[in-house]
Parts: sequence; structure tokens; C-alpha cells
Amino acid sequence: MDHDFLRVEGLGKRYLAGAPPVFENVSFGIRRGEFVCIIGHSGCGKTTILNVLAGLESPSQGLVFMDKREVSGPSLDRGVVFQSHALMPWMSVLANVTFAVRSRYPHWIRAKIEAHALRFIRMVGLGDAADKKPSELSGGMKQRVGIARAFSIEPKMLLMDEPFGALDALTRGVIQDELLRICADTEQTVFMITHDVDEAILLADKILLMSNGPQARIAEIVVNTMSRKRTRATMHHDPQFYLIRNHLIDFLVNRSHQIQAAGSTGQAPVTVTPGLAATGLEDGEASRETSGEATGTPIPVTRNFRIIKTPPP
Ligand SMILES: Nc1ncnc2c1ncn2[C@@H]1O[C@H](COP(=O)(O)OP(=O)(O)OP(=O)(O)O)[C@@H](O)[C@H]1O
Ligand SMILES: [Mg+2]
Repeated sequence: MDHDFLRVEGLGKRYLAGAPPVFENVSFGIRRGEFVCIIGHSGCGKTTILNVLAGLESPSQGLVFMDKREVSGPSLDRGVVFQSHALMPWMSVLANVTFAVRSRYPHWIRAKIEAHALRFIRMVGLGDAADKKPSELSGGMKQRVGIARAFSIEPKMLLMDEPFGALDALTRGVIQDELLRICADTEQTVFMITHDVDEAILLADKILLMSNGPQARIAEIVVNTMSRKRTRATMHHDPQFYLIRNHLIDFLVNRSHQIQAAGSTGQAPVTVTPGLAATGLEDGEASRETSGEATGTPIPVTRNFRIIKTPPP
């Protein structure tokens, strides 16, 4: 039985004939309402994967399905926040967002389109800058316009490429909180790239760990077993937080390049729950309680984490 809203199967991308692929054998699923982050070193292919999910780039191998339909081009069902903000420079902030809203809701009257756009512009703290052009904005402000634009089309799936990277810590916190609220209210499905492990632990239900490129792959899927009620203020008090954080950092510092050096195994990624070592709960028990996931049969402890599911290759 397949519950995945988005399904990625055997994805690979090679830009230059004769050169090794940037990544290969990338397979994963995202359930409806799930928030998934992907972490990996610069150049491993995260943006390329996101572009393929957005339908903006075609893979050299593999398939992507969203809501059981193959993704073969861009669609307003998927809202994208780009790594570079990608605004239309001749349009004001308001016009950049209303352009998207009008494409999404062509039957709405102008006043309704503007009110809807302004709601999201205010959400990212740019109410006073609605009439400014992108050239008059800072990098962080431009990025916030991109976020408002993606949210404003209320997509079935949000694809975000380091959306908060250019923001100051205060603004980032406000928008992360807002994002969590919107996702909880609307059961928004999200795929997000980040370099910030704390951000991933705060936001994500599942964190995909990508090995270094070339021939990068998703090496591991880390289930966030902390309560979904976690907040920026409280998550540091949960002992699970440190175990998950250490696991992610160990991957980035040590294992991501060891996995690349060891070469491709052709195996699907293992799913791990490093946080559970702090709980004393059974694997399945804790996962059901905290993330609502059916996790399958526990398999014995490996290092400081437990492998809970090893899908067939
Ligand atoms: N259009 C292109 N033509 C050729 N090579 C490309 C192209 N786009 C990306 N690449 C290469 O593919 C690899 C992956 O690029 P990508 O932008 O997906 O990485 P990334 O993981 O998002 O990195 P970062 O964290 O720095 O944003 C890089 O080596 C890059 O040079
Ligand atoms: Mg990138």
C-alpha cells in the first residue's frame, strides 16, 4: 500500500556525457502533510533534485510522481522558493506577488487578489515595502518576497531551497514559527533544503541525509521523533534534540564523504531514529506517539541509533 503524496524513484542526473552523475539512485517518498528537509554538502545536487520535483529540470534517470501523477513540467500545484529569490525586477513587491495570485486564481477580482497578496506580504514583515522594487530591497527582504509569493498560491506542495539562509536570526525565527503554524493549519506538504541542522530539527518530520557528490545519494532518512508540538524555545530542553543533532553533524562532518568514498551500494537508504535512545520507549511506540508514523519492526541498535526499516533495494 502506498501512502506517499510525492514519490521519487531511482532519480539520477548527469550534466556532462562521460562524467559521473551528480547523484544517482535517489528514491524517497513524502506523505501528505509531511515536512521533509534535505541536508548535504554544497554541490551534492540538492537544488537539482528540487528543480526536478518542481518540473523545471528533467532527470537523466528515474521518475517523480505527485498525487499519483507523473511530474513532467512546472505547475501551480507546486510553489517554489528559489535559492536566489528570482523576482521580476521591474515589478513592485505587491505586483510580484499579485502576478502569482492572479495566475492561480484567474477569476478573482483585483481587490481580492491584492488583499490576498498583502496578507502574505505582511506575514513576512514587508507590509511597508509593498510598493518597492526588488532593487530597493536587501537580500533578506527579496528572499521574503519569494516566500510570500510561494505561500500565496497555496500550493499542494511547497518546495523551498534554503529559504531562510539570507535572513537575520530574528526574522528567520518569526518566519519559521509562521511556517510551522501555516503547515499545521493547512496540512501543507513541504520539501525544503537547508544547511542549518537546528532548523531541520525544528521544522522537519523527516530529514534526508545526502552523501557528497559526484554520485551522491540519499544515504539515510532520519525520523524526527520529538513531539510535533516542539518550538524554538522548548526543543533544546528535550534530550532527544542533542542525539538527533549529534547524529546529523556526525553525518555532515564524517560520514557523508566516507559514504561517497565507499561507492554506491545500490541499496535504498536506511531509516533511523537517533532521538529514541533518550526516551526509553519502544521504537514503534515512540514513533506512533510523536510522529504518527507506522514504523515497522525494530531492528537492533547500531552505534547510537536504531535502524527501524530497511526497504528492499
Ligand atoms: N546547469 C548545469 N550544468 C552543469 N552542471 C551543473 C548545472 N547545474 C548544477 N550543476 C552541477 O551539479 C552539481 C550539483 O549542483 P546543485 O546546485 O544541485 O548543488 P547543491 O547541493 O544545491 O549545492 P549548494 O548547497 O551549494 O546550493 C554541482 O557540481 C554543479 O556544478
Ligand atoms: Mg543549492
